[in-house]
Amino acid sequence: MRAGEGILPSQTFLWISLSGITRIRRKFANAECIRQHATSVRYPETDVAYLNENYLKLQAGYLFPEVARRVREFCGAHPEGARRLIRCGIGDVTEPLPPAAIEAMKRAMDELGHRESFRGYGPEQGYEFLRSTIARRDYRDRNIQIADDEIFVSDGSKCDCGYVLDILGRQNKVAVPDPVYPVYVDTNVMAGHTGPSRKDGSYEGIYYLPCTAENNFVPEPPKEHVDLVYLCFPNNPTGAVASREQLAGWVDYAREHDALLLFDAAYEAYISDPEIPHSIFEIPGALACAIELRSFSKNGGFTGVRCGFTVMPKSVLARTADGRRLPLHPFWQRRWSTKSNSVAYPVQRGAEALYSAEGRKQVRELIDHYMGNAKVLRDAAADAGLQAFGGVNAPYIWVKTPQGLTSWQLFDRMLRELNVVITPGAGFGAQGEGYFRISAFNSRENAEEVARRLKILRRS
Ligand SMILES: Cc1ncc(COP(=O)(O)O)c(C=O)c1O
Repeated sequence: MRAGEGILPSQTFLWISLSGITRIRRKFANAECIRQHATSVRYPETDVAYLNENYLKLQAGYLFPEVARRVREFCGAHPEGARRLIRCGIGDVTEPLPPAAIEAMKRAMDELGHRESFRGYGPEQGYEFLRSTIARRDYRDRNIQIADDEIFVSDGSKCDCGYVLDILGRQNKVAVPDPVYPVYVDTNVMAGHTGPSRKDGSYEGIYYLPCTAENNFVPEPPKEHVDLVYLCFPNNPTGAVASREQLAGWVDYAREHDALLLFDAAYEAYISDPEIPHSIFEIPGALACAIELRSFSKNGGFTGVRCGFTVMPKSVLARTADGRRLPLHPFWQRRWSTKSNSVAYPVQRGAEALYSAEGRKQVRELIDHYMGNAKVLRDAAADAGLQAFGGVNAPYIWVKTPQGLTSWQLFDRMLRELNVVITPGAGFGAQGEGYFRISAFNSRENAEEVARRLKILRRS
């Protein structure tokens, strides 16, 4: 008998399993009878399902819940401050959806309402109309040879960050930028690819690539071998972009080390500098060593609608423990067939509409709006005597905290004195300490008001 198992009182020593409990329930239909019986029986304590204990390794305060907690507490205690509060924290869009997407989604809903045009389950990897539009407009029109069936439509890039680990081995040595979009790290923790967390919030078993003012927040390839590297450009949280040469350095590293690059291009639409690559596949050799993640969240405002995609070239390989090298594409295809039925038909029609002539124009207007905010905020930070980075090819401004304040100290101060919510850099990793992130996702009115309030930081 295993430790923790109970025994019946007195003489019987009868093992009571869950089915035994059910039998007893039937026998003693009377609840009181069951209660009395239960007090005389110690049930087995080990018979609940096992937890994925990797979740116990996760740091308690995921950044945004902690931000939300402090804001809630402040608003509860300061109703006047709560009324003036402006949120420049979470990177969620604020402006309504492009009309082209709304019209397309409405039309698709109407189709579903008629027998002749009704559709049930769609293809698990996404509808052909969307996959081919993406492959053509985002890649082949730009001389990048991506086939339609190398596009996999999903419910967003955040989700893809977790999904992709389904097909990658747990032995992989993983490298992430520091500061980092926290989802890359936490999904690896959940999947059991890391050791426990350390005091500073980092995890054993993960290789951190420092992104500092000295390297313009673009990490160097490491001296040692890693198997899987997350890169994100334009970057959240720093707003940095990588030049063609810098990305070529990463592709060279990946080819030399047989490493895989996971390139998150969720913010590519914000690039204004014509010299900056929008896709890792603009770099020769990348088709053999990179997977790209893209999203309609930040260009089409689909953060609530939910749609994104991965580009999985057929030439990308992974190895098995017995030394075989196999293409990842069939496994990714299989993963989708088994675990998903892709994204709602109207959503895919909405995403397709973002590529139409009106859709493109409306997306451009949205991006110009947010980048107009970014300029207002970046200029205001500079006027306040703060050292500001990013905000030129990305909707985030990465600002050095003044007077040596820690990033959470500055968060509290801005909340209290300016009634503005920003994101403390330390929440993105150890190298984020001493910085804070201002998001440009806001109305122009709010951005201008935040700009006015930032002057207070200069005076105090
Ligand atoms: C770097 C990065 N990747 C992915 C996402 C999530 O995108 P999606 O809304 O498509 O899940 C975000 C959201 O903020 C992000 O900052």
